[in-house]
Amino acid sequence: MRLVFLGAPGVGKGTQAQRLAKQEKIPQVSTGEILRESVKRGTPLGLRAKGYMDSGKLVPDEVVIGLVREKLTSPACVRGYILDGFPRTVAQAEALDRMFKETGTPGLDHVISFEVPHEEIVRRLSGRRSCSTCQTVYHIEHDPPKREGVCDKCGGALVQRVDDKPETVLARLKVFDHQTRPLVEYYQKQGLLRRVDATVSIDQVYKQLLAVVHATRVA
Ligand code: AP5
Repeated sequence: MRLVFLGAPGVGKGTQAQRLAKQEKIPQVSTGEILRESVKRGTPLGLRAKGYMDSGKLVPDEVVIGLVREKLTSPACVRGYILDGFPRTVAQAEALDRMFKETGTPGLDHVISFEVPHEEIVRRLSGRRSCSTCQTVYHIEHDPPKREGVCDKCGGALVQRVDDKPETVLARLKVFDHQTRPLVEYYQKQGLLRRVDATVSIDQVYKQLLAVVHATRVA
């Protein structure tokens, strides 16, 4: 199962990817998560990416493409993967297609487009909290932890992401509209796009997602 999760910031890509990856025992390859981890550790990649991420801009294509190529060609991804947050520009999508050809690895099964109006996204991101240790995502109203501020899974502290400040969220939504939205058409032309109504509850979105994944297996 080789999937891309496409959608604006805060539509719920990470939430759904965590669930599906666990159920299907395939890796969730989240470029945002890899970059945040690099920033935390102060690696050269992290130092390069931090300024872009804090202001809501995309990290340069060549940095992210190299990172994803390395992940997808690793043994962990042989059975499949969920690409969460990549590709995000047409140049990244073209590089991914080239990589499949060059390495002889099978292409994508589906590109899932998660769809939510921008107003709802702003509400979702202001209530998001993530575990500083295991990165599990919560929402203070829609998906709260059992104990306020503490991760149910590992007991780590829950924190708010730096780029979830309202002004940065608006900048990220603009970047999505200009640089990432064209991918909907790109993948529609390839016959890979599947739309999911992500305005409903987390469980209901997951049901739609399973229906798409099931269709993948039947096809
Ligand atoms: P990244 O980490 O990928 O952020 P994003 O795409 O902006 O996505 P988010 O993680 O904000 O949202 P999500 O859709 O995963 O939503 P979530 O499940 O958390 O990227 C961060 C930065 O890294 C970028 O700005 C860029 O600088 C850089 N970067 C990353 N990839 C890059 C690339 N390919 N190229 C260049 N730069 C790159 O859910 C949000 C909240 O809503 C949570 O609180 C959740 O509990 C709640 N929620 C989820 N689903 C529902 C629901 N159905 N109902 C109610 N609440 C819900």
